[in-house]
Amino acid sequence: ALERTLSIIKPDAVAKNVIGAIYHRFETAGFRIVAAKMMHLSTEQAEGFYAEHKERPFFRALVDFMTSGPIMVQVLEGENAVKRHRDIMGATNPADALAGTLRADYAVSIDENAVHGSDALESAAREIAYFFTEEELCSRTR
Ligand code: CMP
Repeated sequence: ALERTLSIIKPDAVAKNVIGAIYHRFETAGFRIVAAKMMHLSTEQAEGFYAEHKERPFFRALVDFMTSGPIMVQVLEGENAVKRHRDIMGATNPADALAGTLRADYAVSIDENAVHGSDALESAAREIAYFFTEEELCSRTR
């Protein structure tokens, strides 16, 4: 089915100047970018986005990292977008990521892992709504 998923290019990848390279991967994989913005998250915004991880030992480091510099946030649209986006990102830990995936190519550690993607259709809807209004989604399905 035609789906939308939330993608974040994290501060490490923005600092490496690979926004365009990553967008090229999205486009050659057949996704359409239907919304995008650069943001520098506040602590409150990062904590809210990652609220489900609040009790995890890595939560504070995650929030510190995600607020350390600008990020690119985008909505990708395409067939089976949630799963296909996760496939091109590769495993959360770049040490486990398959060759040719974004994390294998751009991530250095599980903490600084270059990209984020929604893990399910329900979280995609929640994460998209966290950053974008319905009017900001320039989808051809509306
Ligand atoms: P992300 O997909 O953005 O979701 C939560 C992030 O926490 C994850 O990517 C990792 O960058 C980071 N993280 C750090 N340690 C872990 C861990 N042990 N398990 C899962 N995520 C982790």
